Amino acid sequence: MKMDGVLKLYFGESNIPTPEYIKRAAAQALEEGYTFYTENAGLPGLRQDLAEYYRRLHGVALDPQSEIVVTASGVQALNVGLRCVLNPGDEALVLTPAWPNASAIIRMDNAVPVEIPLALHGGCYAIDFDALEAAVTTRTRLLAYTSPSNPLGWVATEEEQARLLEFSRRHDLWLLADEVYDRIYYRSPELGTPAPSILGKASRHDAVMVAQSFSKTYCMTGWRLGWLVARRDVGDRAAQLNEFIVSHATSFIQRAAQTALARGEEEIRHMLGRLKENRDFCLAALRQMPRASVPSPDGAFYVFPRIDGLTDSFDFCRRLLEETRVGIAPGVAFGAGGEGSVRICYAAERTILEPAMERLDRFLSR
Ligand SMILES: Cc1ncc(COP(=O)(O)O)c(C=O)c1O
Repeated sequence: MKMDGVLKLYFGESNIPTPEYIKRAAAQALEEGYTFYTENAGLPGLRQDLAEYYRRLHGVALDPQSEIVVTASGVQALNVGLRCVLNPGDEALVLTPAWPNASAIIRMDNAVPVEIPLALHGGCYAIDFDALEAAVTTRTRLLAYTSPSNPLGWVATEEEQARLLEFSRRHDLWLLADEVYDRIYYRSPELGTPAPSILGKASRHDAVMVAQSFSKTYCMTGWRLGWLVARRDVGDRAAQLNEFIVSHATSFIQRAAQTALARGEEEIRHMLGRLKENRDFCLAALRQMPRASVPSPDGAFYVFPRIDGLTDSFDFCRRLLEETRVGIAPGVAFGAGGEGSVRICYAAERTILEPAMERLDRFLSR
């Protein structure tokens, strides 16, 4: 982090600053007096707008009073969601490679994450349902997955979602979907259409939770705002639990988020156009490189190439950094199935991506 002149592709955020209209909305909210406590579950107006957002984008009807809880970030949504349903000693299945926080939070709850890697077949990732079945024990209580995935960019197909739901119902498990990248999705005919949400398949009586965030869609990583959608009994509990963690997300930020939801669509499409070009540039560059093979990601803003013969991705990333000043993330950081690959975040300017790809190519050609 202290090294000068590094081409930084190791982070998990876009380099685009928060759009001006959201910053102005926050300033206006301060002026208007959004400086007091709000409800533990968040401003009723924001929850109403989130329900409307699900109706418009996913055709899903949610009760804003009981099924949506505003949280102070996506990671806090994961925290309260997991905390509400896991008891000490429970086991939680986690599809990996994955951003490590879900497994870490499960451990913080004195439960046990059981990581099940996705299988790579014919250049595509897919859920290994046989491995999932084999991993279920009498202590298994939850299955967590991320779609679109950080770090894979993999997106669960409609069929995979249906099978995950059937699997969770059959084994009486909670199904926790991390959908924070749902708007960063390239497979639809029109950019801006979200990746399918599990909420479109599940009924409101299913034991299903979704963790969400304003960070990635609206370039608001530092603002710390997210939400949890959950069956109403757990929604109630999550709102209560908020009281003892942060009480609620920051008032004026919640208010600004209402403006983001109302006016964000054009900016989102613009960002997606740029991200898709960057993705295609990186894929084309990586596919020319010796030792690298890379599945096509359908969402998020990462590529996760496998490097032939690589057994220590941490050491590889350290040498790449020291010798070429290119910073990327080691696959081993993303749990089972991650070793042997590296993660590259392509939400950066082309003036950074182009020299970074050239240096990586030269490094791999040695
Ligand atoms: C898969 C995934 N989930 C959740 C988050 C958390 O986002 P935040 O806490 O910024 O809302 C991230 C951030 O990198 C992520 O990659």
